[in-house]
Order: sequence, then structure tokens, then C-alpha cells
Amino acid sequence: MRMYDVIKKKRDGGELTHDEIAFAVKGFTDGSVPEKQMSALCMAVFLQGMSDRECACLTGEMAASGDMLDLSEFGELTADKHSTGGVGDKTTLVLAPMCAALGMKVAKMSGRGLGHTGGTVDKLESIPGFSTDLSATRFTEQVRNVGIAVAGQSADLAPADKKLYRLRDECAEVESIPLIASSIMSKKLAAGSKNIVLDVKCGDGAFMKTPEDARALAEAMVKIGTAHGRRMAAVITDMDSPLGEGIGNSIEVNEAVELLRGGGPDDLRELCVTVCALLCWMCFGKTEDEGRRMAEDVLDSGRAYESFLEWIKAQGGDTGVFANDGLLPVAETVIPVKAESDGYVSITGCERIGIAALYLGAGRKNPGDEIDRTAGIILRRKHGDRVSKGDVVLEMYASEVSDVEAAKAELGECIRVTDHAPESFPVVKDIIVY
Ligand code: URA
Repeated sequence: MRMYDVIKKKRDGGELTHDEIAFAVKGFTDGSVPEKQMSALCMAVFLQGMSDRECACLTGEMAASGDMLDLSEFGELTADKHSTGGVGDKTTLVLAPMCAALGMKVAKMSGRGLGHTGGTVDKLESIPGFSTDLSATRFTEQVRNVGIAVAGQSADLAPADKKLYRLRDECAEVESIPLIASSIMSKKLAAGSKNIVLDVKCGDGAFMKTPEDARALAEAMVKIGTAHGRRMAAVITDMDSPLGEGIGNSIEVNEAVELLRGGGPDDLRELCVTVCALLCWMCFGKTEDEGRRMAEDVLDSGRAYESFLEWIKAQGGDTGVFANDGLLPVAETVIPVKAESDGYVSITGCERIGIAALYLGAGRKNPGDEIDRTAGIILRRKHGDRVSKGDVVLEMYASEVSDVEAAKAELGECIRVTDHAPESFPVVKDIIVY
């Protein structure tokens, strides 16, 4: 087989066979297919698309390029959730202990934040002592004993995707639904869970800006997972506004803890309950109503909070910080931004809020940058809320590394007070099951 012929076939709109896709992925991974040819194939896919069958083959080959976690000892009970990334998304911190307290086995690989979006690993590492560096043996042992393990993504998980993503990024081939779907799903397949819910964020602060693109990506990923024998569902959720009220690492852990203790913002609770109910259906065969009741009960009874503390302790975290209703410390310099007139809060640029948090020190511009885990933003009023002149709309939490003026300028561009109530959307826009 020649890579030249594989590229030409796709360039001319043909459907590649499994063998042709395997040849390209294996050759690219072992170096026998040069980057220029793999990039040409990606560009051909970008322009011509891929059938569902081709997407499933590509994903399977990328997943099989490295370690595949074996979670078969846990039968049908393994649960994973993936978010395509957004601003203020602390769902995993609440959802994972909810699911574990209900008897599911949550085995999750998570990433760090980059640009305007945050990452679960950074949030968890705000807890003193917490380690996301788990060996494969410790990871599975913890899933067995505690019901949850969240580790940083190992380099051995879908290495073909890692190499391919870097190439696509250099060659303007990222924004292709078949390539994004197979990239995300290769890591999910390798991570081993039987039941997977995808949270596809949609809006200004998300990778997918329109409901049409979000739906197309969600459907492509659900089909790939199903073709590989996984039980799949996807939710399309709003990212025109940050999720919840807090943006920043310690700030988001605190918000998750508040929800687990019975408080917390409504949109975050609704998303966690919806995804948990879907997983109750997938893992235990419950109806939607039964699933929602189980999800609400596990939160309200405090069982999810107990499971959270057990999980944090198992990964070396100091749970003493949460004793007596305690929370993680946040930056001491608090700069309020107040409404300059009566009216309604209108958020028109969620990505800019993420960038403002980055300027305050909560995020990184480049992989490997240092971050300030105590910095961030708390929205004291959300999109659509009524305010009077002088009310605090938000607070910036800053330290000596923060560029407060740059953050303020970003926020001034995207959070305004308007005379009329702006249009608002529910957090869960759509649910896709296959
Ligand atoms: N995230 C991924 O993991 N892969 C992509 O291609 C895009 C976003």
C-alpha cells in the first residue's frame, strides 16, 4: 500500500477502507509515514469529510496506538464524562462523587487548562497534597475501593492522537468534525469506561460556537462510541455565559463543595443532575424520572459530599481544609466591579471572561506556564439578573502576578448593564442518545 494512493483516494472523495486508515495511523505513529503526507491526508479529510464507518475506524486505530485501560472487572458500572471545555466548568468535581456514591465506578483522565478554558487537573491540584499522578495499578485500585479516580492524562494514552493533534494545529486542520470527534473519542475509548456522557459546550466561550456545529460534533462522537460497543449519550450545554458563578481554580473547587453541601448555583446543579440521571439510565437501566430523583437525593442527603471527601483523601488531598464548613483560601485582594446604572446584567462575551481570569493569573497562555490557583472571578450577578446602580456585579480576586487593568478591560467589553432583560437560555439545550 502507498500513502500517496490513500491521500489521492480521500482527496477525490472516496471512502477509505479500514486497512487504508490503519496503514496511515500506524505509519504516522511509527514514523514510516512522514508528517507532510499525514498532513495532506488530514487536509483531504478536512475538505471531503469522513463517513461514520471511516470515523469509527480512525478512532479505533488511534485508541489502539497506546495503552488501553482494562476496566472489565467493573462490568457495566464504569462511567466517564467528557466536556469539550468552557469557562467555569467544575462539573466533574460534583458529578464524579455523585456517581460514586450511587455505586458507579468513575475512572477519569483529565487535562490542564489552556487559554480561556480551565482544566480539572489544575482545579484538583488547588487542594493541598492532591496528586493526579497515579500509576495504572493505583488508579484501578482506587476505582475499586473508593469508586473514583481522576488522573492526569498519561503520555501512553492514544499517542497517535497527541502527535496528530500537534500536526493539525500547525497545518490549520483542527476545525474538522470527523477529526475532532475521533481525537476526543480515541482518548475516551482508551480510558476504558463502558458508559460515556459527552458534554458538548456551545456558545461564545466554547470550541463549538453554534448549536448546529455542537450537535454535529455530539452526534459524530455518540456514533463512534456506539460503534465501539460503548453506551453513549451527549448533552449540548450553554457556554454563552460561564457555568456557575466562579472562574478560577480554588474558587471553582469551593463552588463545587458548596453545591455538594446543599448550596451552589442552579445552573451547575441542573447540569450535574441531568448528566447523573443519564448515567443512572445507562448504568442501572433507570427511567429519566428515577435517575433525576436518585441524583437529587444523593446530593441533598450529603452522600455525594462524603464520597467527595473520601476521594480527595485517597489522592493525598488535605480534607482538613474543608472541616467546619471550611473552604480553600482565595486571593486576598478583592476588586469589586459595580453596576453604573439600574437594569439587567447582559453577558455578551464568555470567552473574554475566561481571558480576564487568565490575566488575573488563573489560566495559562502556553502549556507549562505557572498559574495562581487562588486568583479568579466570582460573578455576584448572572446574565439576566436585575441590578440597581452600585450593586456589585462581580469580584476580581487578584495577587501580585495579576494584570488587573487588562482583566478589567476584557470584562468591560463583555459584561454590561442594559435597560431590557436580555434573552436567556437553559443550561441544558439538548440531549442526544443513540
Ligand atoms: N480536543 C481534542 O481532544 N481534540 C481535538 O481535535 C479538538 C479538541
